[in-house]
Amino acid sequence: MRIRPGIYWVGVRDPGLEVFDVVIPTEYGTTYNSYIVEADEPVLIDGVKKEFQDEWFAKIAARIDLADLKHLIVNHTEPDHSGSIGELLRRAPHIVVHGTRPALQFLSEQVNMDFNKHIVGENDVLDLGNRKLRFIMAPFLHWPDTMWTYLEGEKVLFTCDGFGSHFAFPEGKILASQQEVDFTGAVEYYFDKIMGPFKPKVRDALAKLEGLELEMIATGHGPILDVEVDRYIQLYHAWSFQAQAAEQKRVVIAYASAYGHTKRMAELIAEGASRNPKVEVVLLDAANTSPQEVEAAVSSFDALIVGSPTINADAVYPVWRVLEAVSAITAKGKAAAVFGNYGWSGEAAALLEERLEKMRLVVGHPAVKVRFSLTEQDEERCRQMGETVAASVTP
Ligand code: FEO
Repeated sequence: MRIRPGIYWVGVRDPGLEVFDVVIPTEYGTTYNSYIVEADEPVLIDGVKKEFQDEWFAKIAARIDLADLKHLIVNHTEPDHSGSIGELLRRAPHIVVHGTRPALQFLSEQVNMDFNKHIVGENDVLDLGNRKLRFIMAPFLHWPDTMWTYLEGEKVLFTCDGFGSHFAFPEGKILASQQEVDFTGAVEYYFDKIMGPFKPKVRDALAKLEGLELEMIATGHGPILDVEVDRYIQLYHAWSFQAQAAEQKRVVIAYASAYGHTKRMAELIAEGASRNPKVEVVLLDAANTSPQEVEAAVSSFDALIVGSPTINADAVYPVWRVLEAVSAITAKGKAAAVFGNYGWSGEAAALLEERLEKMRLVVGHPAVKVRFSLTEQDEERCRQMGETVAASVTP
């Protein structure tokens, strides 16, 4: 499908995808976008997920003979884009693959075969004869290998995951201007999930777009941004600065409770933390909260306090689910503490502490454990924990 003169979308739709990367629910499915740029030396930009490679090859063949394809650009080598490239290189071993050093390293380890590689760096230009591609380094968006590719003249930026959305546009309607529903929410959700841990890197990459004439952002997922390009860039600016603007510190207290004692402890800890005016306290009953709400609650925090009863010598599943939802990247170095009620031996607290430490959070407060019913002293210990943890994150 033609998106600009001599630029064709040869991507695939995956509307049935329900979960991306095992952990990200994708309510609207997704697409894997790939492009052919016609030129004296024709180029293919990015691939698709392996399961869809037959459809991809058919679309490429409808436009160009593989023997005539000279170059492949890999902006990113996560397998949802690179899974089909091994087969491409088997069918067309003459192709020269251009990418960052990490991208070509990753791709080599994925395809396990020799191929023609060309490492590109900041502002390098690939001369296609009558057209030129320029490479903009955008590392850690969201892998070390990522870059963006700018087609001079046409003013199109190919960004792969950048500005993408898990939004399977209707068949044949690949442009943002053709969408009948507002998919901004899908772009924001994608930013939160994929780019959120790398906000400083987003800001670095956005700075490189200043002064660049841009009429279209051809993403790797979701609709191609052919309208409101500036609005999407502004949204990325706003989202990538969001956390910095927050003045209040966020203390998340997540717990599950069997007979109400751990719940009572959580409430007392929240009471103690709330005495600190610089702190916003979020109290989360993990057993009665949807996975999406758990994820949203732990997507950013300054301190995380988790509580579980001990059942069968372990913490309970809803609390482990909270820790699964915590990003070890963004949470690294953040304050953490553990509490819980128990009847026999109380192993849950130590197990939770061990897990938090392995995720490199800083467990700076001793666990508060209470056996059976809370005494007044226990209640005070809980309030104190809340107060102390809150103080540790408010200078
Ligand atoms: Fe769409 Fe990071 O892969």
